[in-house]
Amino acid sequence: AACSTNGHSQIRQIRLITRPSYHRRLTYDAIVLGGGAAGLFCAAQAGRRGRKVALIEHSDRPGRKILISGGGRANFTNLRVDARNFLSANPHFAKSALARFTPQNFVELLREHRIPYHEKTLGQLFCDRSAQDLLTMLLTECSAGHVDLHTSTKVTAVTRDTRFRVETSRGPMDSAALVVATGGLSIPKTGATAFGYDLARQFGLAIEPTFPALVPLTFTKADTARWGELSGVSTEVIASHGKQHFREKMLYTHRGLSGPAILQISSYWKPGTPLNLDLLPGVDFSTAPPHEARKQLSLKLPQRMAERWLDVESFTQPVPSVKKIDTRLHQWSVVPAGTEGFDKAEVTGGGVSTNELSSQTMEARQVPGLFFIGEVVDVTGWLGGYNFQWAWASAYAAAQAL
Ligand code: FDA
Repeated sequence: AACSTNGHSQIRQIRLITRPSYHRRLTYDAIVLGGGAAGLFCAAQAGRRGRKVALIEHSDRPGRKILISGGGRANFTNLRVDARNFLSANPHFAKSALARFTPQNFVELLREHRIPYHEKTLGQLFCDRSAQDLLTMLLTECSAGHVDLHTSTKVTAVTRDTRFRVETSRGPMDSAALVVATGGLSIPKTGATAFGYDLARQFGLAIEPTFPALVPLTFTKADTARWGELSGVSTEVIASHGKQHFREKMLYTHRGLSGPAILQISSYWKPGTPLNLDLLPGVDFSTAPPHEARKQLSLKLPQRMAERWLDVESFTQPVPSVKKIDTRLHQWSVVPAGTEGFDKAEVTGGGVSTNELSSQTMEARQVPGLFFIGEVVDVTGWLGGYNFQWAWASAYAAAQAL
């Protein structure tokens, strides 16, 4: 199929099944539930291997989250991917799939499709033009694999005897294998549902508790009063929690803290615990002449931030203690009130327990033919293209086994 820059026209070139209902049961080798990053890639790969594949998406179009990702340019992978870039109850689980489908493998696919991309920072690869290029590529791959894409199709029940029977709003379908790629709970308006977790429970699989990850943190009332006026100020920090730390930008918001450093550490943060922030990484302020504290700090930090910190921290002393301010800025301990929740979280932490799945194929050990891939699994990446790389790698692992 030709590469189009328009998702809708592209969708029409592939077998988009939009008839109101089917008169006979549709039979497939594999049915993939969820037309997001993982589902599209898995369906395409299995289709290209000669499998007869259906992809079921409940919303009217696939890949909505892809289109809004990376500020509309999709940070589709990271040049340096390691299992340490992921959170999971079993940190070793992701290794096998990540080793068998690497960022370079995905980049090759982009090259084949002549999609221009660039490295922004820290190994993060983005589309030059738009995330639409990425979605178009995935749909073109599905087309090459003769995938039947059923959009606006609700799954009402799934049962299994020798095969899977999927009841849908358009009629029944059956298949030898069922791949669950329905994603996590983040950003409900993009089509997120708890469907994947519910289906896992239906088949007796354990779920690691889910939580909003890569999410802004909120201030308590007292901290909002102290720092709320800094909304919009951004500065480089080292954010730490336990052994984990990230040196990146932090942004004050009117509700609390955000920016890459905070999003990263939020995935590790536990409610009720303090977050440690070095607001002056690598800078020694303790030797600044006390009577020049204000001027000197304004050279090291954004002016509004320097002034607010001095106002709050220097209290009523006419000449503040620079040593004390230095310590406070390097060791700011703040207990967030909470997170901004799934509405604002980039991903969902936790999910289908990796103990239940083969790390080679993503197949449920106790339920042959049932696979879980992408964000629905308890593997959560850092910010920086890692979540998409997990979607591609887990999808590829499953597709080789279909
Ligand atoms: P995904 O959520 O993509 O897809 C699930 C699909 O299943 C959806 O199409 C949904 O409609 C469908 N579905 C749900 N329930 C269903 C049901 N019952 N029946 C049928 N279909 C159903 N990551 C990254 O690496 N780089 C980035 O730049 C970004 N940027 C980014 C921005 C924003 C705003 C968000 C919210 C997230 C990101 N991410 C990201 C994270 C990344 O988008 C995410 O990890 C992947 O999309 C996960 O892919 P999945 O296919 O697993 O789920």
